[in-house]
Amino acid sequence: MLHRTAQIRLVSSHPEVYEPCDDSFALVDALLADRTNLLAHHPTLCMEVGCGSGYVITTLALILELEANGAYYIATDINPHAVRVTRQTLEAHGVQAELINTDIASGLEKRLERLVDVMVVNPPYVPTPEEEVGRVGIASAWAGGDNGRSVIDKILPVADKLLSDRGWLYMVFLSANNPSQICIQMREKGYAARIVVQRSTEEESLHIIKFWRDSDIQIDANEMVIAKKSGQARVLESLVSQFPRLSFWKQGNETCN
Ligand SMILES: C[S@@+](CC[C@H](N)C(=O)[O-])C[C@H]1O[C@@H](n2cnc3c(N)ncnc32)[C@H](O)[C@@H]1O
Repeated sequence: MLHRTAQIRLVSSHPEVYEPCDDSFALVDALLADRTNLLAHHPTLCMEVGCGSGYVITTLALILELEANGAYYIATDINPHAVRVTRQTLEAHGVQAELINTDIASGLEKRLERLVDVMVVNPPYVPTPEEEVGRVGIASAWAGGDNGRSVIDKILPVADKLLSDRGWLYMVFLSANNPSQICIQMREKGYAARIVVQRSTEEESLHIIKFWRDSDIQIDANEMVIAKKSGQARVLESLVSQFPRLSFWKQGNETCN
């Protein structure tokens, strides 16, 4: 069966809102690549943090639209123009979602705690001077501060609070964000990780990584901490062995503390 994605001609725009770009398309490609699993997952609550134009959350809803019970969709963005544009994009595709203009999920923590079955995030990940992070308007779309990690490092603990026991997180990272280190941090919190899409352009190398809670990992989380104390090399070895194609991660990790 042909899958439907949001149509670019129906995606609304505004000069202060991030237009769908390579990273947005890579995130959508990851969702399409994992579509069979997503359909079998029967998510009840799906969420996007940083919805921008609405291209990704609309596509997620279209992918899941044949899902018998349907899911509830929530999208947030710190940029009020993005919330308006996303509303128009959703309407143009006949899709419904609750839209909230907020910082990550501020004000939603109690309501959504441990309820989100699927979370998608294409965060501001570009390394920039720290003072550029959180600026009003379009700059908030990409400004990621030191190593592009300022907003990412705020989103991950929120995701951990909101994801349900069977919750999945799909998130975009740049090599400069040190995704292997992020996987180690998430592993210590009990998450397994898998690269769903990896795409390199002349300018950047994007990874779309899926995280999910893994009870086996929770059990050996202590082991991981011990291993980390006795030398990060062992932790990295164990992680990299999960990603045999990612020899470059080994290289990237030589700079890890
Ligand atoms: C790279 S753009 C991605 C937009 C859209 N999801 C896509 O893939 O095309 C990042 C989005 O995150 C939003 N954003 C940045 N910081 C945020 C924060 N602290 N809380 C919520 N949204 C944020 C930006 O306004 C922007 O719309």
